Amino acid sequence: MKQDMIVILDLGSTENTVLAREIRGLGVYSEIYPHDITAQELKNIPNAKGVILYGGPNRVVDGVEIDVRPELYETGLPFMAIDHAPAKCQASYKSWEEAAPQLKSFVFDTCQAEANWNMENFIADQIELVRRQVGDRKVLLALSGGVDSSVVATLLIRAIGKQLTCVHVNHGLMRKGESESVIEVFKNQLDANLVYVDASERFLTKLENVADPEDKRKIIGGEFIRVFEEEARKLEGIEFLGQGTIYPDIVESGTKTAKAVKSHHNVGGLPEDLKFELVEPLKQLFKDEVRACGLALGLPAEMVYRQPFPGPGLGVRCLGAITRERLEAVRESDAILREEFKKAGLDKKVWQYFTIVPDFKSVGVRDNARCFEYPVIIRAVNTVDAMTATIEQVEWPVLLKITDRIMKEVKNVNRVCYDLSPKPNATIEWE
Ligand code: XMP
Repeated sequence: MKQDMIVILDLGSTENTVLAREIRGLGVYSEIYPHDITAQELKNIPNAKGVILYGGPNRVVDGVEIDVRPELYETGLPFMAIDHAPAKCQASYKSWEEAAPQLKSFVFDTCQAEANWNMENFIADQIELVRRQVGDRKVLLALSGGVDSSVVATLLIRAIGKQLTCVHVNHGLMRKGESESVIEVFKNQLDANLVYVDASERFLTKLENVADPEDKRKIIGGEFIRVFEEEARKLEGIEFLGQGTIYPDIVESGTKTAKAVKSHHNVGGLPEDLKFELVEPLKQLFKDEVRACGLALGLPAEMVYRQPFPGPGLGVRCLGAITRERLEAVRESDAILREEFKKAGLDKKVWQYFTIVPDFKSVGVRDNARCFEYPVIIRAVNTVDAMTATIEQVEWPVLLKITDRIMKEVKNVNRVCYDLSPKPNATIEWE
């Protein structure tokens, strides 16, 4: 292993992630482990140089005060405790304010850790760990083309090459050119084992006449798992499932001690007889670190800085019961919006931007005759955590240019609107 590590044991503190980031900020890698880890497990963590316990009010779970196993103090590793007072600690502080100024000296003097955390070392370590875990066996990965799955695919290709099979399911609700770019980058440039499944017809048929947004989501999610499962069954001897789980996914799903914020749907969903062991090399990374990892692996910047795209894709932007005609209008107008945002430099500035096509028409004129066609709604928002959002105040000339192009180039559209609503009361998506 190339990098030293400070282990944080999870006693339920919401500050654990802040602490991990502080330590990584000092150039030393840090990971968070469950509080009930055994001494042997702790000893087995490669290059662990010291341990930090962060206590606080969440240390009481269901009326019981949780603690680490006393045997851990016999491992010989230095311990630091914050808001917690175990007997055998090298350093103990009442609060983070008291501990913070001492953190550097604990990490470098007491633990003798080296500041060798960087992406090259992280990648080298993960490649070694994946090779150790997988051996000469085979791994399957659902590759959506999103940031996390793309980065994990690239890392796994580096580690195990053709032992990895990527499955890209096109559900017919992808943005224009998206599946093509997955094929171009992964099959043509990275020479991956890529199975491309065009399931568009299957999804669109299932979605016919389904207007309720939650029903649409359930159908898309359920069908996705069935298609993936069918592909998995066709492949022989797969024992592992690669996943682009990242650290915030784990925190939001709840750890042994921290409460769940929301359930995490990346894991599970496959039937019992398709049990795989998981390979999750990014599970300790924060989003910005995942992007840095992607860049260090040589992925194109457009892929690494891709705006978030919902699992149900354009399906929740083609409002109500999806029709092919309106879906095409969403896809074409979205492509124009993305092109013009890029030209205006807004692609690097705006968090998420897309178009919506509702399921009603309005009156217009075309070639001196009355026409009855759909509107396109443009939405561009900024946010930190997607819980609240403000709109981007796009300059009029940019909006007018986009409007002009949509009017001329997109079929069945006679009106363009700009959504001015922040979240709340609106949500980012319309469905
Ligand atoms: P809302 O509309 O709830 O969106 O303000 C917040 C963020 O979540 C994305 N989003 C989804 N992502 N599956 C996803 O993977 C979904 O069903 C879904 N719905 C919304 C949305 O694009 C925004 O970034």
